Amino acid sequence: MASTLITNIGELVTNDPDAARDGRGLLGAIEDAALVVEGAHVAWTGRAADAPPADERVDAGGRAVLPGFVDSHSHLVFAGDRAQEFAARMAGTPYAAGGIRTTVAATRAATDEQLTSHVAHLVEEMRRQGTTTVEIKSGYGLTVRDEARSLAIARQFTEETTFLGAHVVPDGDPAAYVDLVTGPMLEAARPHARWIDVFCERGAFDGDQARAILRAGADAGLRGRLHANQLTYGPGVRLAAELGLAAVDHCTFLSDDDVAALRDSGTIATLLPGVEFSTRQPYPDARRLIDAGVRVALASDCNPGSCFTSSVPLCIALAVREMGMTPAEAVHAATYRGAEALDRDDVGALVPGRRADFMVLDAPSHVHLAYRPGVPLVAQTWIGGRPA
Ligand code: NIG
Ligand code: FE
Repeated sequence: MASTLITNIGELVTNDPDAARDGRGLLGAIEDAALVVEGAHVAWTGRAADAPPADERVDAGGRAVLPGFVDSHSHLVFAGDRAQEFAARMAGTPYAAGGIRTTVAATRAATDEQLTSHVAHLVEEMRRQGTTTVEIKSGYGLTVRDEARSLAIARQFTEETTFLGAHVVPDGDPAAYVDLVTGPMLEAARPHARWIDVFCERGAFDGDQARAILRAGADAGLRGRLHANQLTYGPGVRLAAELGLAAVDHCTFLSDDDVAALRDSGTIATLLPGVEFSTRQPYPDARRLIDAGVRVALASDCNPGSCFTSSVPLCIALAVREMGMTPAEAVHAATYRGAEALDRDDVGALVPGRRADFMVLDAPSHVHLAYRPGVPLVAQTWIGGRPA
């Protein structure tokens, strides 16, 4: 198998959990480092001076190398935009879940080709900003046919596909819609989806509905994740903890009981600060969660309504500036924790055996991602051991 030595790395972020346990820091960073890639995987990491020989050699020029971002929350299958809704928000209109229906109408009217090329464009935009794994949800179809086709399209770009038929009730009777989601829609979605998600929120689905939908998903073999506590306090976070879900996302409005439930269950709290930026809501309190012993991930939530950014570097900068995270915690949350939020142990760290998914930064260290906000610092993204 062909091997490549990437050497002269100013700072190599490994996220090696053993390094963290040995007191070598959360990021397991190595200075003056090198990395050997064999095929699609990492074969060796360490000091450049100790590097083994390889077939090819790449000079990183003293720049930083980090694991690729694992963006565990996005809604990329949609048509149209809601720029006017954003402008109205910035003039004082509050965000409401009902705006989702505008995108549903545009998505239903789009062809498969239009939707596919739009997802391709957004995935490429993400890749240029260092994202190497992305989760993609359905949720703007909301008919049996449109949810199945949204997932079939998403599946062309990622293994991490999530059925979100329970995004909002499109029209009619909510109870009848829940029956549709847990019946024929789930049946049609199942072959294309790994996960099932519910928007458990005022104006969307309540705790009992979310529980019924997640249970039906589990019976069909889909693992659960949840949108919860974005707009107000509610039952979603505690439900996610009770069910032992991999992750619960948003977590903006949390009671002490919610925080304790997250800590005790080990369910990851995925924070999505692009949403608070784009809705002018208060940011979630990452410091409170981390200090309580909760595992925190960061993701983009790229979607046309509450947050139309594909940029994890922006989310890192916001998390550091507005949510009390250190640069190291934010980078770890967007890589290692993102992988954990998707139950993946093959990505999110640069240790032997994991996938060689990484980025080269046009900067000497990870700190620059927050220190130089808004600057496109990702010089190169490698996926599966090759430049993407
Ligand atoms: O994660 N919360 C539900 N879904 C998106 C918003 C969708 C929309 O407004 O179109 C979110 O914020
Ligand atoms: Fe979302």
